[in-house]
Amino acid sequence: MSGLPILRWPDPRLSTVCDPVALDEDLDNLVRDMFETMYAAPGRGLAAPQVGVLKRLFVMDCGWKDGDMTPMVCINPEILRADGMAPGSEGCLSIPGVLAEVMRPERILLRYRDIDGAVQEVELDGFEARCAQHELDHLDGIVTFDRLSPEARRVVEEAYSVSFPVRPA
Ligand code: NI
Repeated sequence: MSGLPILRWPDPRLSTVCDPVALDEDLDNLVRDMFETMYAAPGRGLAAPQVGVLKRLFVMDCGWKDGDMTPMVCINPEILRADGMAPGSEGCLSIPGVLAEVMRPERILLRYRDIDGAVQEVELDGFEARCAQHELDHLDGIVTFDRLSPEARRVVEEAYSVSFPVRPA
């Protein structure tokens, strides 16, 4: 067992704004399956809509590939503050084989509920800030392609459709 199937863009569920998670919702099984899926993929972040669950949560672990496990579960996340802007190369488990150069704030203050229901506020920078923003975008139905200029988007969409032919809906 290597986890749940990961939806591939342009599945319409990846372009859907997800619903907030209710306070009393039991997410233990979903979160366990999402971590298993993310580590098996292998990836550093996975948002619920990528496995077909249209709810506002994501998991991430930016350190595990370097031997430093830092699992985070972010439920109903929101960005309270963002500053600096920088380009960075981003892959996505739903857009395999393609990297996109995305401009994003370099530092964010992120508020979310953790798996125990506690409200957390953390300052993130570097790759963690980028990863959290990428995953939060998924909860709003936004993928990396949506953050590119039309010109850049055409180039990466072509590269993607060559690697993974996109069937008409
Ligand atoms: Ni992604």
